[in-house]
Amino acid sequence: MKLTLQPQPIQVEILIRRGLLHEEAIEVIRRLGKRVAVITHDNGVATHAKSLCQALQADLFTFSSGEEYKTRETKAKLEDQLLKAGFGRDTVIVAVGGGVVTDVAGFVAATYCRGVPLVLVPTSLLAMVDACLGGKTGVNMPKSKNFIGAIYQPHAILIDPEVLETQPLESYRDGLSEMIKHGMIWDAAILDWIEDHWEKLLQKDPGTLEKAISDSCQVKLTVVERDEKEEGLRRILNFGHTVGHGIESSLNYSISHGTAVAVGCLVEGYLSKIPEADLQRVLQLYQKLEIPLKLFLESSEEAILDLMKNDKKAVGGKARFVTLARLGSVEEHDGNYCRTFDKKELQHALRWCREAVYSIERIEHP
Ligand SMILES: NC(=O)c1ccc[n+]([C@@H]2O[C@H](COP(=O)([O-])OP(=O)(O)OC[C@H]3O[C@@H](n4cnc5c(N)ncnc54)[C@H](O)[C@@H]3O)[C@@H](O)[C@H]2O)c1
Ligand SMILES: [Zn+2]
Repeated sequence: MKLTLQPQPIQVEILIRRGLLHEEAIEVIRRLGKRVAVITHDNGVATHAKSLCQALQADLFTFSSGEEYKTRETKAKLEDQLLKAGFGRDTVIVAVGGGVVTDVAGFVAATYCRGVPLVLVPTSLLAMVDACLGGKTGVNMPKSKNFIGAIYQPHAILIDPEVLETQPLESYRDGLSEMIKHGMIWDAAILDWIEDHWEKLLQKDPGTLEKAISDSCQVKLTVVERDEKEEGLRRILNFGHTVGHGIESSLNYSISHGTAVAVGCLVEGYLSKIPEADLQRVLQLYQKLEIPLKLFLESSEEAILDLMKNDKKAVGGKARFVTLARLGSVEEHDGNYCRTFDKKELQHALRWCREAVYSIERIEHP
């Protein structure tokens, strides 16, 4: 006899609207009809988390902000606190914060009482267009980021662009960089649109953000829907990240993730052999958005080449890279969506990018 079990696909409700957190969000969370625990970080977003807590008569759990607190210890502390406060199976966890909070609180929700409903309220632009989508949750190990975790989809994702008002510009730009990546791999119209609206984006105009966030989310959602477990297509979201992670790590994380990924997108775009005019176009967009590419000039080529071998897509000690067919479209490579390059080709691409960044620096600061 053979029996089968086909779990029902779950539907994630995603709302993107300015002012959403004042009323609609409260209704959505209440509808889940449970005891609410709000998890947040102690930096910048306290007002949003506290007002949600008040409206929902929820308990507030806070942990220190920063990647260094994305650990198993933080997760265990939160679980102990939830248990002590008497939270049981009827808990709904609401994560209010940047990607660190959505990853950690999401992982807590995935395992607390074997899984309780989760609502994500991302407060950084990167969390809105990237970290909150796709169900990946987790914590870091000393030498491996996001090594322990689970794929666990939230019941709802509530995105209110007004909360970005308080986000420091430096980390806000990390989100802009991921948006450009989405345009490069899937939807070139995103690049056209950002070219026309970059000033309003830098001013964090909520109406402009509503459209930009929604277009960018659509790219990630489409890709994740087709390959939730990252067996093929989902790798394309990693475009720019093989080189980007190498740069971040070679500079001891003194460069932001978004800036390193921006450089990575240029280098990997060059490896893809798309027309150089297209790469210059993207470069100019980064310039307009004030992404500080020049920080890349301080990195060592040898260190980047070496560190890229640790990338999660690497096979047999050789890094693999997502490549573009053209702006807005990737190459398939027999369903692998990535391929290797010789050391010479990699050196050539890194040197081209160094020269391109030098050139714009010379124009700006002769
Ligand atoms: N799960 C995924 O698929 C996925 C995807 C991409 C990134 N991530 C993870 O996301 C994390 C990075 O996310 P991040 O860039 O949001 O970093 P972050 O969570 O560290 O937030 C950046 C900083 O901004 C502050 N902040 C956030 N929102 C604010 C606001 N509205 N006002 C004032 N300050 C605010 C935070 O306190 C923090 O100091 C990494 O840990 C990364 O691994 C996960
Ligand atoms: Zn990224």
